[in-house]
Amino acid sequence: MARKKITVVGAGNVGASVVAYASAQELGDVALVDILEGVPQGKGLDMFQATPVLGVDTRVTGANEYDATAGSDIIIITAGIPRKPGMSRSDLLNTNVKIVGEVAQKAAKLSPDSIMIIISNPLDAMVYTAWKKSGFPPKRIMGMAGVLDTARFRTFIADEIQISVEDVHALVLGGHGDTMVPLTRYCFVGGIPVSHFIPGPRLEEIVQRTRDGGAEIVGLLKTGSAFSAPAASAVQMAKSILLDKKRLLPVAAHLDGEYGEKGIFVGVPAILGAGGVEKVIEVELIAEEKAAFAKSVAAVRELMAEVDKLL
Ligand code: NAI
Ligand code: 2OP
Repeated sequence: MARKKITVVGAGNVGASVVAYASAQELGDVALVDILEGVPQGKGLDMFQATPVLGVDTRVTGANEYDATAGSDIIIITAGIPRKPGMSRSDLLNTNVKIVGEVAQKAAKLSPDSIMIIISNPLDAMVYTAWKKSGFPPKRIMGMAGVLDTARFRTFIADEIQISVEDVHALVLGGHGDTMVPLTRYCFVGGIPVSHFIPGPRLEEIVQRTRDGGAEIVGLLKTGSAFSAPAASAVQMAKSILLDKKRLLPVAAHLDGEYGEKGIFVGVPAILGAGGVEKVIEVELIAEEKAAFAKSVAAVRELMAEVDKLL
C-alpha cells in the first residue's frame, strides 16, 4: 500500500510541530510549504534527518511552491499570523482571510480529493474562507479547535483532582473564542460525572481558565501563541481520518440543520474517518447551554459576514 501523504502549509511554530508529531507517528510522507525562502526546506530536511533516530520511514520535504503537495490525502493549513498580547483572534481576520483563501485555493487544485484541516485563526471564519475558496464539499473541510479546547479543559481537571489525563473526557462546543461552550454536564472522569470530584464554583473557575487558555499562553510567550497542544490536536484529527479510525472528536464542522443551524462551521462533536466529517453528533442541550451555543454561533456569523466582505 502506498504511503499516505500529508501537506502542511505554514512552516511556523504550529506547522513545524504538526510535521514533527505526524512524522513521529509515521502517518505518511509530509510536504511542508511556506512563502519564506529556505525555511520549509530547512525545517523539512532537519525533520527528515530525525527519522532514523525516531525509527520511522516518512519522507519530509520542504518547498515554496505547491507542486510538492500534489496528490495529498490531507492538507493542514497553519499559514497566517498568530496573536500577540492584547490581540483577539478576530484581530487576525483581515490578514489571514487573504492568506488562507489563497492557500486553500492553490492546495485544493493539486489535491482535489484531499481532506482539509484548518488551524489558522480566527478559526471558524478561516474554515468558512477555505471552504469558499477550495470549492470542496463541506464534509471534506473542518477546523481544529475543539480538540485543543477540550485538551486544555481535560488537563486542568486532571491536574485539579490529581488523576490521569487519560481518564478525563470532556466536550467543548461552539466557536474557538471567548464564547466557546465547555459542557460540564458532559465531562466524566472514569465514567463518573466531574461534579463528584470538583464543586461547582471551582469547576466554573476551570471553565474560565479553559476559555482563556489561548490568551494565558500568549501572555506568557509574548511573541506568539500556543503551538504544541494545537499541533498534537490537529494530528489526532488527521490520524483518525488517515487510518479511518472514526474517532468522535469536537471539531469545527459544517452544520446543515444540526443544532438548528445551517451554512456555518462551528465546534460540535463529529465522527472523523476516511470520508472526513462522517457524522455530526447532536447532543441534548439544556436551556442555558443552548443560549451559550446560540451566542457563540452569533459571534461566528459576525466574522463570516466580515469574510464575505473581503472575499
Ligand atoms: P507562525 O507565525 O509561527 O507561523 C505562520 C507561518 O505562516 C509563517 O512561517 C509564515 O511565513 C507562514 N505564511 C504566511 N503567509 C503564508 C502564505 N501565503 N503561504 C504559506 N505560508 C504562509 O504562527 P503559528 O504560531 O504557527 O500560528 C499559525 C496560525 O495558527 C495563526 O493564525 C494562529 O493564530 C493559529 N492557531 C490556531 C490554533 C487553533 O486552535 N485553531 C492554535 C494555535 C495557533
Ligand atoms: C490558541 O487557542 C492561539 O487559538 C490559539 O492557543
